[in-house]
Amino acid sequence: MCDDDPFPQAGRVRMIVPAPIGRIGTSVPDPEPAMFGQLDPEHVFMMGDNPALPRMPDRPRLVDFLRLRMSDMVIRHLTVSARRALDDGMEEKIVLACLLHDISNGCLVRTDHGYWGAQMIAPYVDPEIAWAVQYHQPLRYFADEAVGYAYPASYDAFFGADFLPPDYICRDAEHARGHRWYMSARLVTLYDTYFFDSGPAFDPEIFTDIIGRHFREPEDGLGFDGSPSAHMWRSVIWPNNFI
Ligand SMILES: [Fe+2]
Ligand SMILES: [Fe+2]
Repeated sequence: MCDDDPFPQAGRVRMIVPAPIGRIGTSVPDPEPAMFGQLDPEHVFMMGDNPALPRMPDRPRLVDFLRLRMSDMVIRHLTVSARRALDDGMEEKIVLACLLHDISNGCLVRTDHGYWGAQMIAPYVDPEIAWAVQYHQPLRYFADEAVGYAYPASYDAFFGADFLPPDYICRDAEHARGHRWYMSARLVTLYDTYFFDSGPAFDPEIFTDIIGRHFREPEDGLGFDGSPSAHMWRSVIWPNNFI
């Protein structure tokens, strides 16, 4: 696929029904019933490449997702976290975990983002990296004074000062505390920064060597290798597909 190739459904109005997980419970009304009434030869539901998004290569690699599907805010957050770990001399597995820790809320699903993100990357990384991504989520809510990690002040602003994490988060944090990889996930929380940190993002290119050594890029591209999480990567390539 090159940039001059036509987009699918050309010449027609491509209607986008927002994913339920990002719409239900919000004030955004469900447009689907009205859109069904608009279907005709000129109006279709979107399937395939969305001309409003940068087109992904046929065999996309991790860096393509970082460059073409993340907001500026998220790529800054991820690259700053990873760069801080790198500058502190952390081992490369930790640097990659930092780089990927919020990949799900960056481009796929916000709720339970650590769990989604871990599943997404699991076929391609050392199990310890996926584990650290999963458990950074519950551990974020619990201080560890021995390593200088405090409950994030930003969470009071985000969720209210009286917020208490749900039972499953408490249970999973407790499980993580007793695990041999605890410090890997804890380090991700330590290098986690706040989204409102100022400063520029780093080009993901600076992590090329680390990605090359620790992320198994599938020959057919992420999304097309038949792995258990291939559909998650395809959903990021085509986030607006009707089905
Ligand atoms: Fe996170
Ligand atoms: Fe984060």
